[in-house]
Amino acid sequence: MFSSEVYSDRRQKLRSLVKSGLAFFPGNVESPVNYPANPYHFRQDSSFLYFFGLDLPGLAGVIDFDSGDEWIFGDDFDLNDIVWMGPQPTVRELAMKCGIVKTAPLKKLEEIIADAVSKKRKIHFLPPYRGETKMMLGSLLKEDPCKMKTLASEELIRAVVSLRIIKEAIEIEEIEKAVNISWEMHVTAMKMCRAGVKEQEIFGVIEGIAWSKGAGPAFPVILSINGQTLHNHAHNNILTEGRMMVTDAGAESLLHYASDITRTTPVGGKFNSRQRDIYEVVLRANNLAIGEAKPGKSFRQIHIDACKAIAQGMKELGLMKGDTEEAVMQGAHALFMPHGLGHMLGLDVHDMEGLGENYVGYNDRTKRSDQFGLSFLRFALECKPGHVITIEPGCYFIPQLIDQWKSEGKFKEYICYDRLESYRDFGGIRIEDNIAITETGCRLLGRPIPKTVEEIESVCS
Ligand code: GLY
Ligand code: MN
Repeated sequence: MFSSEVYSDRRQKLRSLVKSGLAFFPGNVESPVNYPANPYHFRQDSSFLYFFGLDLPGLAGVIDFDSGDEWIFGDDFDLNDIVWMGPQPTVRELAMKCGIVKTAPLKKLEEIIADAVSKKRKIHFLPPYRGETKMMLGSLLKEDPCKMKTLASEELIRAVVSLRIIKEAIEIEEIEKAVNISWEMHVTAMKMCRAGVKEQEIFGVIEGIAWSKGAGPAFPVILSINGQTLHNHAHNNILTEGRMMVTDAGAESLLHYASDITRTTPVGGKFNSRQRDIYEVVLRANNLAIGEAKPGKSFRQIHIDACKAIAQGMKELGLMKGDTEEAVMQGAHALFMPHGLGHMLGLDVHDMEGLGENYVGYNDRTKRSDQFGLSFLRFALECKPGHVITIEPGCYFIPQLIDQWKSEGKFKEYICYDRLESYRDFGGIRIEDNIAITETGCRLLGRPIPKTVEEIESVCS
């Protein structure tokens, strides 16, 4: 973890943002896979990590905004635990690591929360996303566990988002470590991308790299020759000549900061002319967006500009027609790029999505669009120094979507449906990088991962 001052400082900032009451941060507990003693790999809650840094199950933090008291609650290991799990630091020793002196067993937490409830004090908590946390909150607050998400504190959500969204230099260093693990994952995947190889084999190898260098994958690896399925978690194909493999894979650094990188490689390592044409269009959109990202620039505008680059490219290839600007404003390009240009990146791969996407990416002046495609944009606000964002334009040929739009005659003034027929088996292309907004522009994070046609062909050769 970082030094104790980092966590004390973050809690101090939070105390200056929330007026009164107490904030309760339940850490995560072990969660079973198929029977109680067989847990998933433990992952701490990201906001708990941000304010307390302690990466162990069964802890909870409390910040009292009225008295200024800060607590860590948890039960020390008994001899039985030590026999099975080995010795562990005491809760007191753990609390010292994040600059907290007050500790108590979990039983005491029940008393403190019950006391606050009886005095009608405001108990702030973030929206829970795990059943175990909802049950714990429900039991402590004597509320229906199923309603816990709606009872979360908007004041606390807004305060936490305002802190976590601006990354400190030490956090950006962690994200760069995670990108560097991704470098190895992606270069390995490119080298393995040959006809006859099973997707599962490459998936297993690159997941192994994430575990051997960091804290594992930041999200389930997407790796498929069916890249037109945006979040394709099936890995049951055998790579065949003429297809492209989309690999969307990120790692967590040892302190759980995420990377999120996508590369697309032609099976066999050589682009054919059709693949190269589409690839160059997506690459242009990726470079254009990175070139535009700077403080004060609206990320929604960067998204729209990247979509225009995709639409313009499709027009040059005879797949779209008409006025590009109009086509994008009306949403016709979303046939090819139905998702957003990017999202915040940090302790979560979609950073703070669990706190509510609109608190992170939208505000009173910038409302989420309901247009297909643009509605999936997760972050639409102005870029600020310290933001870490993904840039991930793509171009996909989704047969079911093409068929549906074609049958409805949708955007037929902009889309050349007849020419599209021969692309039904193309799949998709996505190119994703991670950037940090600086005072004057932006910086590509981590060791640059092969991205141009020439670079990818050279790695594969
Ligand atoms: N890496 C998957 C996503 O950004 O949705
Ligand atoms: Mn992403």
